[in-house]
Amino acid sequence: MTDARQGLSGLLDTEAIRKDFPILDRTVHDGKKIVYLDSAATSQKPRQVLDALSAYYERHNANVHRGVYTIAEEATALYEGARDKVAAFINAPSRNEVIFTKNASESLNLVANMLGWADEPYRVDSDTEIVTTEMEHHSNIVPWQLLSQRTGAKLKWFGITDDGRLDLSNIDEIITEKTKIVSFTLVSNIMGTINPVEKIIRRAQQVGALVCIDASQAAPHMVLDVQALQADFVAFTGHKMVGPTGIGVLWGRHELLEDLPPFLGGGEMIETVSMHSSTYAPAPHKFEAGTPPIAQAVGLGAAVDYLTSIGMENIHRHEEAITRYAVQRLLEVPDLRIIGPATAEDRGATISFTLGDIHPHDVGQVLDEQGIAVRVGHHCARPVCLRYGIPATTRASFYLYSTPAEVDALVDGLEHVRNFFG
Ligand code: ALA
Repeated sequence: MTDARQGLSGLLDTEAIRKDFPILDRTVHDGKKIVYLDSAATSQKPRQVLDALSAYYERHNANVHRGVYTIAEEATALYEGARDKVAAFINAPSRNEVIFTKNASESLNLVANMLGWADEPYRVDSDTEIVTTEMEHHSNIVPWQLLSQRTGAKLKWFGITDDGRLDLSNIDEIITEKTKIVSFTLVSNIMGTINPVEKIIRRAQQVGALVCIDASQAAPHMVLDVQALQADFVAFTGHKMVGPTGIGVLWGRHELLEDLPPFLGGGEMIETVSMHSSTYAPAPHKFEAGTPPIAQAVGLGAAVDYLTSIGMENIHRHEEAITRYAVQRLLEVPDLRIIGPATAEDRGATISFTLGDIHPHDVGQVLDEQGIAVRVGHHCARPVCLRYGIPATTRASFYLYSTPAEVDALVDGLEHVRNFFG
């Protein structure tokens, strides 16, 4: 144990928390206990979420909003109850502002398509501009590229500084009177950078542009208050916040959801249908065509309960301590270069790095032999790798169940990688 580890404060009782996550007891490669450092890709799931999923299927499974029989009403109450839980979790002014999607990518694509089919004043056309950043996950780049190709709108973006922050020095040239939408991530999925939301939103509001925030790497780790954020749309996903896969959220401001057109058509999203035309249900149902991800929403509701019982401030404090320790320990590893902020300030618990000229895939493989699970590659954020002239990074990401001992295991594992490759 290093001196830094002795001085750590703000840690959660991980011994108790880890008991809730059965997978963390797994061993791989002849009895090596798994060290799971890939929560930015997907988090592990506590027993409480697994139980909610199986209880739903064992006792309440039926389609929602349709049946008049008992278990259909139970399924509807559970599904809509999950919406209430999510609304409270993000401090939404109304439950009707919470749209369930399949994941954050679908949420972001939904925003791009709402705007793509909108009338004035939201219409995106060849006289308008769309703004994003070089730091985005592909899911917050490609939908805007598609929208730009379809409408002729110009796509602009903020660059990144050498130390992994957004370069806002030209904010007034990037966000202009022509900007219709500014869409950016609150926390970078590859570098962990926490972005200065207020500054960007202030400028967007000055020019009357809408703001969409990708909170996929924020919602699991910190208090997310959509009213305090003052954005117009906020997207995130369930599986990174101890919930199941197959469920995402788009929060949108009530007036916008009333005004903007639906994207997917089908059952559930209509009011009336004739062979000539249809009218639509009010939000959020207008944006939830077809049978929704019912069990997944119920699982997300259980995830929200779980995170709330521990407390988002406590989770954030735990991750800050782990991150401070991890940055310090990783910087002790010879030839290791952190890609992104090499400090513990204004960053989340996701740390990307390179190790000399050892390819990240080799790093990942040798770590795996020791039971250590990290992600390697461009992390669906290839422009960041291009910006730094590297093909890929190794990424370690921490969560409420991560321990200082796991940071030590990573550092020891990297020493092993260095020895292995001479
Ligand atoms: N978006 C996930 C990640 O960053 C998959 O790994």
